[in-house]
Amino acid sequence: MGTVLIVGASRGIGLEFVRQYAADGHRVIATHRTDAAGETLRALGAKPAVLNLLDEGAVVEFGEKMAAEKKIDVAVLNAGVAGPRGQAIRAPGGLDFDAVMHTNVRAPMQLIPALSPALIAAGGKLAVLSSRMGSVSSMSNTASWLYRASKAALNAALKTASIELGPQGVVCIAFHPGWVRTDMGGGSADIDVHASVAGMRRILAAANDSSNGKFINYNGEQLSW
Ligand SMILES: NC(=O)c1ccc[n+]([C@@H]2O[C@H](COP(=O)([O-])OP(=O)(O)OC[C@H]3O[C@@H](n4cnc5c(N)ncnc54)[C@H](OP(=O)(O)O)[C@@H]3O)[C@@H](O)[C@H]2O)c1
Repeated sequence: MGTVLIVGASRGIGLEFVRQYAADGHRVIATHRTDAAGETLRALGAKPAVLNLLDEGAVVEFGEKMAAEKKIDVAVLNAGVAGPRGQAIRAPGGLDFDAVMHTNVRAPMQLIPALSPALIAAGGKLAVLSSRMGSVSSMSNTASWLYRASKAALNAALKTASIELGPQGVVCIAFHPGWVRTDMGGGSADIDVHASVAGMRRILAAANDSSNGKFINYNGEQLSW
C-alpha cells in the first residue's frame, strides 16, 4: 500500500482512479474544486485537497504542500478540458486557448517538478492523461485542434520529464484512456470508467524501466507519438 495522488478527481476518470485505489487500501490524495466533490472524495476514504489548475499561484502552493510528502508512489495528472470541438482550423479565442493550455499543459509542467522529489524517493510512477488525439503521427482529421495541440504538448512534456526522471527510478507514462463514457467522452463512447481505469492501473502496477517515456493505450497497446 502506498500514497497515490490524483489531480482532477471530482468526476469521470479521475474519480474512478480514486474509487479503485482507495478500495485497494491505498492512501489517496485527491484534488477537486467544489465542496460537493470534496465530500464525495472524503466519503470514498480519500484526503481531498482543493486545487484549481487555472490559478497559477494555487498550483505553486499545492506543489509546495506536496513537497512535504516524503514519498508519492503513484501520481496521476488527470485533469483536462476539451475546449472548442469544431471540425475547422479556426483561430482559437484567447480565453479558450488559455483555459485549454493552462489546464492541459502548464499545470502538469508546474506539478511534475514539484512532485519529482517525492516520486524519486518512492521509486514511483508518474502518469499523465493524454489522448490519442495528441498523437501527431496518427492525426487524420481537423476536429478539436486546440485540444490536439495541447495533448501533443503534454506528450512532449512527459517525454522530456521521462529523460530526467527515468534514470532516477521514476517511470513516466502518457496514457490514452480509451474513448470513455464521461462528461468529456459523452454517452456513446466505447468503454466505461471502470474498464479504462482498471486497464491503466494494471499497466502502472506492472510498469518498469522499459515502460518509461511511453505513450500507452488503457489496454496496453503502445501508441506512436
Ligand atoms: N473521456 C474520454 O474519452 C477521454 C479520451 C482521451 C483523453 N481523455 C483525458 O482524460 C482526462 C479525464 O477525462 P474525463 O473524460 O474524465 O473528463 P471529465 O469528465 O470532463 O473530467 C475532467 C476532470 O478535470 C477536472 N478539471 C478540469 N479543469 C480543471 C481545472 N482548471 N482545475 C482543476 N481540475 C480541473 C474536472 O474538475 P471539475 O469537476 O472541477 O471541473 C474533472 O475532475 C482528461 O485529461 C481528458 O483529456 C479523456
